[in-house]
Amino acid sequence: MPKQIKQRDLTEVLSSEQKKYFPSKTIIKNANVPDYEKTLKKAARNPEKFWEEAAQDVHWFKKWDKLIDKSKKPFYKWFVGGKCNLAYNALDRHIEGENKNKLAIIWEDETGKTKKYTYFELYEEVNKMANALRGIGIKKGDRVAIYMPNIPEIAISMLACAKIGAMHSVVYAGFSSGALEGRIKDARAKILITADGSFRRGKIIDLKKIVDGAVKNCKTIKKVIVAKNNGAKIKFNKRRDIWFHDFVKGQSTEAKTAQMNAEDPAFVLYTSGTTSKPKGIIHVHGGYAVGVLRTIKWVFDLKGDEIFWCTADPGWITGHSYIIYGPLMAGVTTVMYEGVPDVPTPDRIWKVVEKYKVNVLYTAPTLIRAMMRYGAKWPRKHKMKSLRILGSVGEPINPEAWKWFYNHVGKRRCPIMDTWWQTETGMNMITPLPSAPLKAGSACKPFPGIIADVVDKKGKRVPAGKGGYLIIKNQWPSMIRTIFNNPKRYLKTYWSQVKGAYFAGDVAFRDKDGYFWIQGRTDDVLKIAGHRIGTAEVESAFVAHKAVVEAGAIGVPDELRGEVIKAFIILKKGIKGTEKLQKDLKMIVRKNLGPIAVIKEIEFVEKLPKTRSGKIMRRVLKAKELGLPLGDTSSLV
Ligand code: WT7
Repeated sequence: MPKQIKQRDLTEVLSSEQKKYFPSKTIIKNANVPDYEKTLKKAARNPEKFWEEAAQDVHWFKKWDKLIDKSKKPFYKWFVGGKCNLAYNALDRHIEGENKNKLAIIWEDETGKTKKYTYFELYEEVNKMANALRGIGIKKGDRVAIYMPNIPEIAISMLACAKIGAMHSVVYAGFSSGALEGRIKDARAKILITADGSFRRGKIIDLKKIVDGAVKNCKTIKKVIVAKNNGAKIKFNKRRDIWFHDFVKGQSTEAKTAQMNAEDPAFVLYTSGTTSKPKGIIHVHGGYAVGVLRTIKWVFDLKGDEIFWCTADPGWITGHSYIIYGPLMAGVTTVMYEGVPDVPTPDRIWKVVEKYKVNVLYTAPTLIRAMMRYGAKWPRKHKMKSLRILGSVGEPINPEAWKWFYNHVGKRRCPIMDTWWQTETGMNMITPLPSAPLKAGSACKPFPGIIADVVDKKGKRVPAGKGGYLIIKNQWPSMIRTIFNNPKRYLKTYWSQVKGAYFAGDVAFRDKDGYFWIQGRTDDVLKIAGHRIGTAEVESAFVAHKAVVEAGAIGVPDELRGEVIKAFIILKKGIKGTEKLQKDLKMIVRKNLGPIAVIKEIEFVEKLPKTRSGKIMRRVLKAKELGLPLGDTSSLV
């Protein structure tokens, strides 16, 4: 059990206003799930039956023989004996029905360029890509690395992999060469799909250069497929690289969809943990499809004709589940926007909502806070009448941001779904539904069919208002199956803390109404602008610099990003801690991890607080930095 719960989290810290329910106007009465409490109660009586019913929404080539196999727990299996395909559910099934000519993707980038694909057009592009991949020998179970901006080709590539049963491994295109290289190597990916570049605030980002830096050290990569996105001048390795459009040229627009076992892995997605090595989270075709489809339909009240905009990046699980697979499985139109939300003016984001008549806007607290800074006058220019439901994800949403989002974006008409979940859970886990009464800043209650709890070190439930560890006590279809090539780490990370329960790594408390308030991570994982980064990853990047002996990194509060990094560095004897060195050190982290690892401050120190076994006690650093009580220091040397 992690030793420490942050002090401030031990007792209820809600203001009296927060305790109250928000005005009942937020309740949507004709929602897909009209009676919130009744639905929760019914599902709680038999969660497995709930998920079995949910699975009826998914297309199966062959129905399962057994709903859930617990014989090798916690390596749970769902829908055993069933045959299905994630891409079939996202695309093929729509082609036979009324969605064929409906828009599947609306894409726009920062520069104003747009593209649209109907389900049928997307289907044909995916088929061409699937054939081309098969043509170079990509088979079931092979890993395909994808490092691309938020452009339609990333959806096409992911769906093509799923269609032929290859596993995609998408790496967020904000990661640097070093991070990309590590992930390619761990997955032993055979090919890499990328793009020439992307734009950020008008600046061209040379993605291909980052890719070249990574791939030169990756022996497993046989081909690099490059989508033309911004036409930037790039280096081309004639033997290894091929343009995306040349790769698919002349391929048939029909392709066979692989009939996968429900438990066959669909993809691996790397995420940060407490060691410097990221974990490859495995999700499977059957259960993932069931969990994502049921949650997107219920949480966002989708009826089939919606325009759905999730502002995340496909490189994270939010993008996998709620930009690509979820909206497409639900047969709605998904908006993909590549770039920043405030270019050329701070109301770009609201303009996109109006232009495409977005019905559901699913975004992150850090973005809301950034928009708040520009002031309410920007959303005020836009009526955004199409909006029906808002969503938030990635980190706790502070009540101020919640209210601003509610008042100025939703115009006091749209309920906010604050969805707590993780890369590992695959789908929304603790979240309101549109028929639930809301509280500003609370993720409400567990989704139907999910049993969550807040417990102490011994696994005993703590009383309402007391902080504790968030656990999930039952199984759900879209749960992580294992860590790629590392089942031991899977057991240790999630199943060794509280007997028989999934350990989420978050601190939370429940209030008297049973509402969950998520407080943040208990472990050495940071959330910087909603991006997940391990302090150990940051430290090992610092230590790669020749002047550094040792480094300790902690998260410190930041008004905009939630959290940023403060680092304590021990230098080699005789080396002076100059400003120039501080700059170099910031650069090396940027080079090894990418710009998402935002460093606020570097402090040169002589010593770091350590345990007798030599582990850096980051919580002591943190307590000192923030002026908090030191807590238990019995193991401190
Ligand atoms: C961690 C998971 C899957 C969502 C994207 C992030 C934090 C996520 C919330 C929320 C409070 C949240 C938790 C969690 N988190 N959503 N609504 N309220 N905290 O996925 O990168 O795997 O990070 O994000 O700390 O453990 P991820």
